[in-house]
Amino acid sequence: MDRLESSDLVKTSAIFGFYRLSMDEKLKLVKEFAGLSEEELKLLKKEGALKLEIADKMIENVIGTSQLPFGIATSFLINGKDYLVPMVIEEPSIVAAASNAAKIAREKYGFKASSDEPIMIGQIQILNVGNAESAIKKIIEKKAEIVSIANEIDPSLKKYGGGAVDVEARSVKTARGIMVIVHLLVNVSNALGANKVNTMCEGLTPYFEELVGGTVRLRILSNLATHRVARSEAIFPKKIIGETAVENILDAYEFAKNDIYRCATHNKGIMNGIIAVATATGNDTRALEAGAHAYASMDGYKPLTRWEKTKDGDLKGSIELPIAVGIVGGSISVNPISKIGLRILGVKTARELSEVMASVGLAQNFAAIYALSTEGIQRGHMELHARNIAVIAGAKGNEVDRIAERLVKEKNITLGRAKELLVKR
Ligand code: MEV
Repeated sequence: MDRLESSDLVKTSAIFGFYRLSMDEKLKLVKEFAGLSEEELKLLKKEGALKLEIADKMIENVIGTSQLPFGIATSFLINGKDYLVPMVIEEPSIVAAASNAAKIAREKYGFKASSDEPIMIGQIQILNVGNAESAIKKIIEKKAEIVSIANEIDPSLKKYGGGAVDVEARSVKTARGIMVIVHLLVNVSNALGANKVNTMCEGLTPYFEELVGGTVRLRILSNLATHRVARSEAIFPKKIIGETAVENILDAYEFAKNDIYRCATHNKGIMNGIIAVATATGNDTRALEAGAHAYASMDGYKPLTRWEKTKDGDLKGSIELPIAVGIVGGSISVNPISKIGLRILGVKTARELSEVMASVGLAQNFAAIYALSTEGIQRGHMELHARNIAVIAGAKGNEVDRIAERLVKEKNITLGRAKELLVKR
């Protein structure tokens, strides 16, 4: 272990009442703890579109806001409608790759997308019911009553054509005994709906305990939104990508289908696109990741996309995954940038947003496996990386491209070389 500095000995992160301090006081403490400079402090405090005052109400212990690049993917034609797709992401190549794939897909018809009703699952765990089968029977018999009580607990969704719609129940055998698991199905309309579903499930506790006895324990939305699946498909014509690429992509798909190590990366590439749109529109990215990977695992971990050759020899791709997103409520209505993201997209419903996101996921997967199965992705990546290095070295304006080109040409994409080239200018 390295020798302890005296300052390490007095440092503690257990700061009593940190949350009660003003933002300036919190900043001062963090500055001292981490040895931040005045310059770094200024950057943290710098206000962007999301005002500090608003950010401070969104989460706890706020000392600043963070920014990411906001890009636009072009050429998306989905169900005959043109979209400019906002994408917020730190990784180079994603936006360009999605745009290129969308351009190729529109040579035929673009993307054909569809989605289910926005139905979320609220889970209620009931322990110690005695006879699980008879408890399940009682619950199913009282479906209509349960749905109606849930809608009394939170009547707000009804106004938008949503609300609780159904109840399912089953038992699970566990190391701690048999549990009855109830699923309350709730149409959340244009919201992600987590709060409403959780409120309904919590509010139903006394009803279930009275109905079946036992103890209600966890009451929480499931992120495996199997009733809220979005789908999209597109054709990537062989006359554009070439017959070899069609075959190579089919090989890449088989690799993902039959090898979990590859499959994780295949699906990660899909989520690159989906999460970038989710971030741009203020949606819960963790919920989407959890849902996507759980869905991919339902029958052994599998790719979320499917690739096949049409009878004309073109490449056809399709995607299917749960996409639980909202266009109202939560941070979406609070963060001005999310609202702008949604305005750029011009989606009218959460379902439409999920269809766009599924299409972007498919486009992203096509772009990744097309590049990987032909020239590889490193050339494109390295060009963008070289630009980043040039910027970090201090290049400005036209210098960035000039230096980046030299770095790539010399196959020496290092900060040291970028700095040397800057000095020589
Ligand atoms: C990198 O973020 C994503 C890829 O690895 C996806 C893939 O391998 O399919 C390029």
